[in-house]
This record gives sequence, C-alpha cells and structure tokens, in this order.
Amino acid sequence: MNTVGSKDVLTLEEASQLFQVSTKTFLKLLREEDIPARKVGREWRFSRSALLTWIESGNSRAYASVEAENNAYFDQVAPVYDELRKGCYGNALRDILISRFTPPAGSEVADIGTGTGYLAKGLAKYAGKINAIDSSAAMLEVAASDFLKMGLTNIEPLAGDAHDLPLEDASQDMVFANLVLHHLSEPTLSIAEMFRVLKPGGRCIITDVKQHNHQWVKQEKFDLWMGFELDELNAWFKEAGFIESEANDLGCICRTSNNAGMTVEIPMFLAIGTKP
Ligand SMILES: C[S@@+](CC[C@H](N)C(=O)[O-])C[C@H]1O[C@@H](n2cnc3c(N)ncnc32)[C@H](O)[C@@H]1O
Repeated sequence: MNTVGSKDVLTLEEASQLFQVSTKTFLKLLREEDIPARKVGREWRFSRSALLTWIESGNSRAYASVEAENNAYFDQVAPVYDELRKGCYGNALRDILISRFTPPAGSEVADIGTGTGYLAKGLAKYAGKINAIDSSAAMLEVAASDFLKMGLTNIEPLAGDAHDLPLEDASQDMVFANLVLHHLSEPTLSIAEMFRVLKPGGRCIITDVKQHNHQWVKQEKFDLWMGFELDELNAWFKEAGFIESEANDLGCICRTSNNAGMTVEIPMFLAIGTKP
C-alpha cells in the first residue's frame, strides 16, 4: 500500500516508497550518497521536498528508475513470457537443476524471481512447499493461474523483492534463483537475503549468465548486469557467509536476440553455497 501521499515529513519506509526501492536498498543509498536526512532518536526522518530536490539534481533518479523500468518490462511481457522463454532456454535447464538439487520430501523451498513459475512447477513434485516470489504482479498472475490449472496447491505465489524477501529468517531448506540476478540493482544484498532466509545446512542455488559484452541487453532487455564472473560470485557467496560455495560453468546457454535480429548464445553459470 502506498502511504507516501502528500506528507511532508517521511519515515524510512515512506522515503523508500518515494524512490520505489526497498528499505534495504534505500538504507544503502543513504550510506553511500549524500541524501538529505535527519535522525530523531533511532528513527530516520526525511523532508519530502528536500528529497525531491535531491532526486532532481543527482543521479539518484537513474538509480531509482531502473528497478521501476525492470518491473514495467516484466509486467508488459508477462502474457507472452513463456513463449519467449522457450526460445531462450528450454526445460533441459530445469531438469538438470532439479536432478542435481532435488528438494527432500516435506522441505520448504523458495524460487526467487519465479517469473511464470518455470522452476517452481518442477520443484512442486518434490518439495513440501514452494514460495514462488516475484516483483512483477503480472508475471505472478500468470504463474498463479498456471499453478491453479496444474493443480499445484503446494506453491504459494508471493509478491516481493529479491532484495527484501518476504520470508522469515531460517525458514527455507533451499533457495533457487534462475536468471534473476542480472536484473537486480544489488545482487550482494539479494545473496545476503537468501542466506538470511535459509535454515542452517540449507542450500542456495543461483543460475544466471556468465559475463558477456552484449551491451544492448541493457537497453533492450532491461538487464542491469552483463552477466557475472565466477570469481566475483565466489567472493559474494563467501562474503554472505556461505560455506562449501563454488561457482562453475553450468553447461547450458541462454539464447537471446536483439531488435536488429542478431541472436547470441550466452553461457550460464551455477553458483551454490551452504549456510553453516
Ligand atoms: C528472466 S526472468 C526469469 C524467470 C524465472 N526465474 C525463469 O527461470 O523462467 C526474471 C524474473 O525476475 C523478476 N525480477 C526482476 N527483478 C526482481 C526483484 N528485484 N525481485 C524479485 N523478482 C524480480 C522479474 O519480474 C522476472 O519475472
């Protein structure tokens, strides 16, 4: 619910809403940029007009709008996403992942950035419960309608941000995130969130594209990252606190085409880690 309205003095939550980012992302901005803010006791307070002036003058506008653009893009493609996805990666990717990381019976599993539920639908055969999380309402709507049609009653579609997961601490046995990391403004924050929601011994399984040089994915697909390097992923997993972590080539590709009709095949990685 939007509570910002026309109030002049805003709380942290309201200021985050104004910027269209999670409170965690806003706190990071607060630490790293010169945002006009005041602390009253332990609470942050913001002047709406000072924030708006700051947004107008700084590069914060670009920062805040990337997440909104990303969401708008997925809201728009949701009705045709499954068709698009089949051209990019088929069911082999899901089969490989689920055969290597089969959720134990009765387990609770999260699929972050579930989209239309590609992974969640496969995981539903094995896990006790799947939390299918996405920030795009339209993608989640398609997913929820498919789950209903397929009789998959153990999947719960949840609106939420990968940077601020709507899940309790230490509540998940496994967390999957397929091809969402490159859409996130702060992948490290999201990896820390995945760590938070895992039970001790729980496993994090992230798959995405390896670093590439196809700049147009940023403008045409609203990707925020041109893939990732294995070393950088290894460092991020360690930093989040994961043990037994490793990032390797997955042996699958993601195919994508630009508006000029050029199709490229980008190799994917698999990054895994265990919460101690
Ligand atoms: C390329 S699709 C992948 C969907 C699905 N994981 C799959 O394998 O088919 C990326 C998904 O991540 C979602 N997404 C992007 N940013 C997100 C965020 N900050 N929090 C949660 N979901 C996000 C998009 O709405 C979209 O559904």
